[in-house]
Amino acid sequence: MSEVDDILELACRLAREAGAIQRSHYETDFRIDSKSTAIDLVTEVDHACEAKIVAGLTRERPADAILAEEGSGEDSSDAAWRWIVDPLDGTVNFAHGYPCFCVSIGIEHRGVATVGVVYEPLRDELFHAVLGQGAFCNGKAIRVSQIAEMQRSLVCTGFAYDVHQSDRDNLNHLTAFVKSAGGVRRDGSAALDLCYVACGRYEGFWELKLHPWDVAAGALIVTEAGGRTSGVAGGPAPHDGSEIVASNGLIHDRMLSLLGS
Ligand code: IPD
Ligand code: CA
Ligand code: CA
Repeated sequence: MSEVDDILELACRLAREAGAIQRSHYETDFRIDSKSTAIDLVTEVDHACEAKIVAGLTRERPADAILAEEGSGEDSSDAAWRWIVDPLDGTVNFAHGYPCFCVSIGIEHRGVATVGVVYEPLRDELFHAVLGQGAFCNGKAIRVSQIAEMQRSLVCTGFAYDVHQSDRDNLNHLTAFVKSAGGVRRDGSAALDLCYVACGRYEGFWELKLHPWDVAAGALIVTEAGGRTSGVAGGPAPHDGSEIVASNGLIHDRMLSLLGS
């Protein structure tokens, strides 16, 4: 087995283990706190999932860097491999018992997105991609959709946790898409939203002010499924997640023009 195969196998295993924690605590009582703003939630399940993943990585990949959302990993610019972990993407949904959340693990090799794994525990769907090797859901190859008209497209977005305070709130873009697309959704899990573009459930997704852990896995899964990602002006999507437009490629330019309007 190559090192990439080992890494993929470990990422899938850890994502499933963290997903099992989510499944077992779903719709139970757990502690909920807030972080950057009152609506930015974190639960004890987020922390338990991150602890499980970081412990596994520390044991099996001690030389690798870890950027984990809740801050428990050790990041480093010297390591060849860097694991970018969102232990529970969709925390607000999880806290409300709304069934849309996942584990997201993206792995960079010397700064290049190389492996992405997203696991949705309630539907038991595991999305994965390896650079140059395609994208898969539960082992079956996935492709983006073939719909080319915005009016027939189902698109998705999200809003940052500073939406109550900030004028850069994405509402102008939302209006433009509601008036042009076949439908617009706000599912509340950016990593899953990206996977749903990859497998053709959505034609497109955009969001501002995300973080590296929201997009590290899903963006690779989109491009490996034949889709396109970019920033809102059409240049490369920033690795820090600060803006992302993801699509089946066919509606991408139309998305960019709506985002510029
Ligand atoms: C959030 C989700 C949500 C997006 C937020 C993210 P979290 O991640 O991906 O869909 O709109 O911007 O922060 O906090 O649930 O890991
Ligand atoms: Ca997230
Ligand atoms: Ca999270």
